[in-house]
Amino acid sequence: MKLIVGNWKMNPPNLAQAKRLFSLVAKGAKNLKGVRVVICPPFLYLPYFSSKNHLFLGAQNCFWEKTGAFTGEISPLMLKSLKVKYVILGHSERRRIFSETDVMVAKKIKTALDLKLNPILCIGEDLKERKTKKTRIVLKKQLKGSLSGLKKEKLSQVILAYEPVWAIGSGYPCDAKEAKDTLIFLRKFFKNKILYGGSVNSQNARFYLEAGFDGLLIGGASLKAQEFIKIIKIASLKQ
Ligand code: PGA
Repeated sequence: MKLIVGNWKMNPPNLAQAKRLFSLVAKGAKNLKGVRVVICPPFLYLPYFSSKNHLFLGAQNCFWEKTGAFTGEISPLMLKSLKVKYVILGHSERRRIFSETDVMVAKKIKTALDLKLNPILCIGEDLKERKTKKTRIVLKKQLKGSLSGLKKEKLSQVILAYEPVWAIGSGYPCDAKEAKDTLIFLRKFFKNKILYGGSVNSQNARFYLEAGFDGLLIGGASLKAQEFIKIIKIASLKQ
């Protein structure tokens, strides 16, 4: 079963547009076999949506504590109460813009798992690291750091997303062959589902699925209902 995750990031700018996008995707994804779709809207929109058929709700982040004096944070318990099933953690924008470290990500993953939320852990090298051939060192370090302290049996509930930072939102997707090599490398350390993310669209989606990725994490293209539905249909055929 392929997993297609739409990360809306801080979009769309109002609830009416969000509702429209969600309902178009829900309609387009209806009755498609072999694919599970997760929509991760901004927190504020979550209460307006619910999971249906193969469509599930995800969040883009959460805090590592369950309640308390943490101004501005969102508890994974709150996500649970809104029937959210997945949570993206350690996205490169969180790491880069909000200075999230592997240690912080590891704490978030642990709490999410305690509450039976499925974490989607993002890792990826930036352009400089890629150019200096440090990709594998960086990925291994992020993977080890973000999963540190986790019991082995919990690992099987984590979903990994390989997202080369230089490919995110850039329009320069990772070459499928290069992504496949990285996938083979990651498989040595991580046995559960591995997704690809970074400038995925309906033209290139099939290449990553054919390369062996278990699904896709999609930013920009998840905001265009028809484009996103096309990708879901491609994944459905590749089940
Ligand atoms: P993109 O974003 O598809 O717009 O490159 C992917 C992501 O950040 O998860």
